Amino acid sequence: MQYKISTKKITDTDSDCTILAVFNDAESGLAMAGKAASAFDKELGGQLEELLIQGDYTGKLGDTHLVPVFTDSAPQRLLLVGCGDKKSFTEAGLRTATEAAVKALKKTTSVEVVNSLTLETIKGGKAYNIARAVSETTEAALYHYVSTLSKKSAAETSLEQMTILIANAKSALEAKKGAKHGEAIGGGVNLSRELGNLPGNYCTPTFLEETAKKMAKDHAKLSVKVLQEKDMEKLGMGALLSVSKGSREPAKMIIFTYSGGNKSQKPHVLVGKGLTFDAGGISIKPSAKMDEMKYDMCGGASVFGTIQAAVEMNLKLNIIGIVPASENLPDGAANKPGDVVTNMEGITIEILNTDAEGRLILCDALSYAKRFEPETILDMATLTGACVVALGAHHSAVLSKDDSLIKEIMKAGETAHDKAWPLPLTPEYHSQLSTNFADVANVGGRAAGTITAASFLSMFTEGMRWAHLDIAGSAWKEGAAKGSTGRPVPLLCQYLLNLKK
Ligand code: BES
Ligand code: MN
Ligand code: ZN
Repeated sequence: MQYKISTKKITDTDSDCTILAVFNDAESGLAMAGKAASAFDKELGGQLEELLIQGDYTGKLGDTHLVPVFTDSAPQRLLLVGCGDKKSFTEAGLRTATEAAVKALKKTTSVEVVNSLTLETIKGGKAYNIARAVSETTEAALYHYVSTLSKKSAAETSLEQMTILIANAKSALEAKKGAKHGEAIGGGVNLSRELGNLPGNYCTPTFLEETAKKMAKDHAKLSVKVLQEKDMEKLGMGALLSVSKGSREPAKMIIFTYSGGNKSQKPHVLVGKGLTFDAGGISIKPSAKMDEMKYDMCGGASVFGTIQAAVEMNLKLNIIGIVPASENLPDGAANKPGDVVTNMEGITIEILNTDAEGRLILCDALSYAKRFEPETILDMATLTGACVVALGAHHSAVLSKDDSLIKEIMKAGETAHDKAWPLPLTPEYHSQLSTNFADVANVGGRAAGTITAASFLSMFTEGMRWAHLDIAGSAWKEGAAKGSTGRPVPLLCQYLLNLKK
């Protein structure tokens, strides 16, 4: 989709469909035209007003009504979009309304559309945020998973261009930047969703390697290096390799280098768990919902999506993305409960549960990340079922020993509509990981499972400015809308955008 910013009057625009806001009128209970819709109605000789009085339409947030128009001077159709209560129309409302509008437009043959929702009064809405909200949610609404369907028609759309109307000509540049960033972030979210949704027999560690290499091909500032199992052996990555031993798919460690800053700037490192399928290993998982463990690479997918967005936003930062990728399966060669393995820093780990494999592959990736002397390290992982119990789907969990980093991450999440909430990472919890047979055990019992997992990881980030995001509850949706959410790509992009200032 191409986005244009325009400061034209709505009555001077041309389109195949113009998107107009209607609000709830508390008094009459009917829908009432927004500012831009009213202005436009003059062109229609008041037809819209009449239609609304008939009472067929609602202004409920996210409701859409396609209205054909038979006047020569106007577009062939209007899309009325419910925006809720006029006084409390916010950026979040704009996102919901835009998403609904685009989903409705996908079913039409419209090619060029005009979005006038952005002309309404939006609480606290700056031009940059408004334009970004529109392009970001439009990209998200256009995504449709079809890769393994024989008929790909669901992904087809005639939509090519959206003109975003803004009232103030002085903010046009800011709005342009917002639209560009939103498109980049939305694209990153969609890449992350696609990788997450692909089944385990398609999206293998080797497939991730190929995808990463393709990404780097077209961009001068992006390069990719992939560590193969023999490279990892040389580096002594015994924890990671112990997980992939039980699988026929070779493990990969994908390393993106994005050089957008100058050479002297220390990089920010993003590490994402890339378990392309997690059956649990010998500590095998129950069958119910095991298919969802194809999503166990969503942390890694968020690194792919964020790197792609950073490239497209041309961020003036140096960023390293690391994705350790493996399967976790039961097999004669697989880890056994009680096995002791050695991480690349020499730390020995007793594997009491082979299903706590994420931390095993992450610990070698985190140890490896140190060589980049990073400014910060963030890791993202669908690490614990306990996190789903604690926070559900609304917040990702954030754990760190650095309170200021937690604040930065929470703030980024708020701004990007992709929220995170902290859990304590105080030293008491670490004793749950004690064992007589190694430096540390890979599990710490049922209590505080998300925290003990993070505490395990903290051993491999000593002295680093590091935070861990557990995205087990936020990375994908179940039920009718089953699919990857692409989270926390928006949070990560915002975190990086905030750093730049
Ligand atoms: N990938 C899972 C965590 C998970 C489970 C995420 C369900 C989302 C939904 C992880 O590898 C795992 O199996 N963790 C174990 C850890 C336990 C053995 C300490 C878990 O949460 O049960
Ligand atoms: Mn597991
Ligand atoms: Zn896992």
